[in-house]
Amino acid sequence: MPSFSEILSKPSVFADRNVLSPHYVPEALPFRENEIRRIMEGVSPALKKERPRNIFIYGKTGTGKTASVKHVMAQFERHAGPGSYCYINCRMYNSRYRVIQKIVKELLPSLDSMGFGLAMLYERMVQEISSKSIFLIVVLDEVDMVKDLDDLLYTLTRSNDELKSGGISIIGITNKLTFKEQLDSRSRSSLCENEFVFHPYTASQLQAILSQRARLGFKPGTADDSAINLAAALTAQESGDARYALKLLLKAGEIADEKAIRRITDREVEEARRSVDRDIAFEAISALPDHHQLVLLGIANLFIDKSKNTRLASSEEEDFFITSGEAYEAYARVCRRYRKPRRSSRWYREYLNDLEMLGLITTVESGAGMRGRTRLIRLGYSAAEVKRIVEKGFSIIEQKG
Ligand SMILES: Nc1ncnc2c1ncn2[C@@H]1O[C@H](COP(=O)(O)OP(=O)(O)O)[C@@H](O)[C@H]1O
Ligand SMILES: [Mg+2]
Repeated sequence: MPSFSEILSKPSVFADRNVLSPHYVPEALPFRENEIRRIMEGVSPALKKERPRNIFIYGKTGTGKTASVKHVMAQFERHAGPGSYCYINCRMYNSRYRVIQKIVKELLPSLDSMGFGLAMLYERMVQEISSKSIFLIVVLDEVDMVKDLDDLLYTLTRSNDELKSGGISIIGITNKLTFKEQLDSRSRSSLCENEFVFHPYTASQLQAILSQRARLGFKPGTADDSAINLAAALTAQESGDARYALKLLLKAGEIADEKAIRRITDREVEEARRSVDRDIAFEAISALPDHHQLVLLGIANLFIDKSKNTRLASSEEEDFFITSGEAYEAYARVCRRYRKPRRSSRWYREYLNDLEMLGLITTVESGAGMRGRTRLIRLGYSAAEVKRIVEKGFSIIEQKG
């Protein structure tokens, strides 16, 4: 019979798995000292009872924005006392109402604000800040997720005119590099009073970050230096995203444990990369709206048919492409199969743009050749994998009726 003690006594390369999880907050953040100092300087007026200017931070995913700001705010709270800042993940709190409600909840934990209207919540917020004369810092992480962001920024900014004492400052964080241009000009000038960019990590920086985590997370001598360097190099080549690099390391450890080997080598990192990329594709595809998925499925079907007909090995898939017209017909066939009315070609072109933005496909404009000008399409992931993911999602929808 299996037993927990037997399962728990299995040898493992991990000393402390949590250290490699995405939720772990490291004590030190190498290569971010300057950014951290500048954010500290930015918020420091609040410690002298003055309202800091709003701060806007942007940079690609996994460049340490969230970790750096959390690090600064933890220190800030030590000086300013509890309730001096409010961290809000806008993925979860994605509207003006929810954000203001969350702020009130943090300021007045015992208040049951269920069913309060916006005006009421706003009153309570202003009252509480005024009466205690707090210079509150509101961190809006992934601020681009807020649906009515212009309204939210306006409301928070305006509250400063109504406060008799104290103030509210915002730290807005986004992974979207072009986000600033999408804001209306009033929001932009209020949010971006003070702005910072976080740049992607280089291979050698990632290597240092990974080594530090590996020392804490793995048992001594289990992770080869060359494996860590490979994880850093693969990541730097792609994105410089520290979260991705850490995922590789965690997964490589899990693979070593599954194989019951005591060392993580290049081979485990390579395997981890394939597995992590599959997970990422799965997440990206499953999160897409229906018609985007159907377009993608049409494209995947075409690739599969073509490789059957030409008897190419799947590794040669990337050597051919399909045209935008063929892909539209394939999309129409998929729509019939799932009984969805197909969208017009104008929408279809939008979907292609979105899929390309997400790296799920790549397209090139063909020269004015035999077929006239057309867009040539390639898939970013294996066609079979894409097909499997989309069909799995749709079979669940079909079962639900
Ligand atoms: N300089 C660093 N040193 C150590 N770990 C880091 C560093 N920068 C980022 N990380 C880690 O990488 C992951 C992603 O960082 P995060 O701050 O969430 O990135 P972002 O918010 O820019 O997407 C987190 O697990 C974080 O702990
Ligand atoms: Mg973040």
